[in-house]
Amino acid sequence: MDRNGCVLDVRDLRVSYHTAAGPVRAVNGVSFFLRPGERLGLVGESGSGKTTTALSLMRLLQESAVIEGGEVLLDGVDLLRLSEEQMRLARFADISLIPQGAMNSLNPMMKVGEQLRDTIRAHQHEGNSKVAIDARILEVLQSVELQASVMDSYPHELSGGMKQRVCIAMAILLNPKVIIADEPTSALDVVVQRQVMETLRRVQEALDASVILVGHDMGLMAQFVDRVGVMYGGKLAEVGPVRGIFKDPLHPYTQMLIKSLPNLDMKEDFRGIPGLTPSLLTPPSGCMFHPRCPHAMPRCSVDVPVLAEVKPDRWVSCHLYDGGQA
Ligand SMILES: Nc1ncnc2c1ncn2[C@@H]1O[C@H](COP(=O)(O)OP(=O)(O)OP(=O)(O)O)[C@@H](O)[C@H]1O
Ligand code: SF4
Ligand SMILES: [Mg+2]
Repeated sequence: MDRNGCVLDVRDLRVSYHTAAGPVRAVNGVSFFLRPGERLGLVGESGSGKTTTALSLMRLLQESAVIEGGEVLLDGVDLLRLSEEQMRLARFADISLIPQGAMNSLNPMMKVGEQLRDTIRAHQHEGNSKVAIDARILEVLQSVELQASVMDSYPHELSGGMKQRVCIAMAILLNPKVIIADEPTSALDVVVQRQVMETLRRVQEALDASVILVGHDMGLMAQFVDRVGVMYGGKLAEVGPVRGIFKDPLHPYTQMLIKSLPNLDMKEDFRGIPGLTPSLLTPPSGCMFHPRCPHAMPRCSVDVPVLAEVKPDRWVSCHLYDGGQA
């Protein structure tokens, strides 16, 4: 794998939630990289581990979650090995997250300007004057096409699209190298979705940042991202350029998903395919997909496939591509 020059390099990330019933292996050996300025999509059925992956990169997991292994290298520095204080300074300044449902988690009791000021104060290295902080906030609000008056508004006074723009503004306040957006437009209507995605694209390009977009909407993915990673049961089944994946999906799961999209113009959700999603408490042996896979071979229920580059820039985790049916 040519990981040279990539801004983010995630290696063999493993995360479990500890529950009364036992560990839920939500992220089970995920590896991917992100090139400078690149937009990478993460798609997959509900519960496939997208949000847990995003939260792990930020080290913002709940207490019941344990990062059991792996590396998250941001410009070569492993975020998983930073002290809490170092990580606090890295958030927003180096890597930032627009969390799933972000616009509904803005503080309803605080004006938008105050929430943005708090974000800067909490994550910057040195104290800046209020004048300097407000100047930066105004600059960022303008870049996400919001008027200065939004500073004095409470979240409930804003439309959904405006609230989501506030969340984008918050994520870029400190010029991060990587922006993770977890389903940033899922609560918005289609027209507003496209506008907000355009804004995200513009600010990302202006910052020369890289983006990880988590989502279900394949139309949005096709328009926005360069490459896409398909998650299944806490693992990456396939990673590759978005057009290549649509035209020539390699993993049987991806093939079934693409086939299940009713429109070729891809204006549909990645809803999934028939059959049960795998239990992450008692996952299937071998390949997680073998109980649903039309191509399953004897070894598929025994050997765990490994994500490997089977063609230039095409990564697949499937025994069909790793040497046959032995
Ligand atoms: N706090 C928790 N305790 C126990 N299990 C959890 C917890 N949070 C998530 N999980 C489990 O971890 C797995 C991955 O969840 P995650 O939220 O990362 O999936 P997702 O791909 O983001 O799903 P969605 O598309 O619904 O947002 C799921 O099986 C989920 O049930
Ligand atoms: S490894 Fe086997 S079961 Fe898994 S996707 Fe490939 S063919 Fe199907
Ligand atoms: Mg999620």
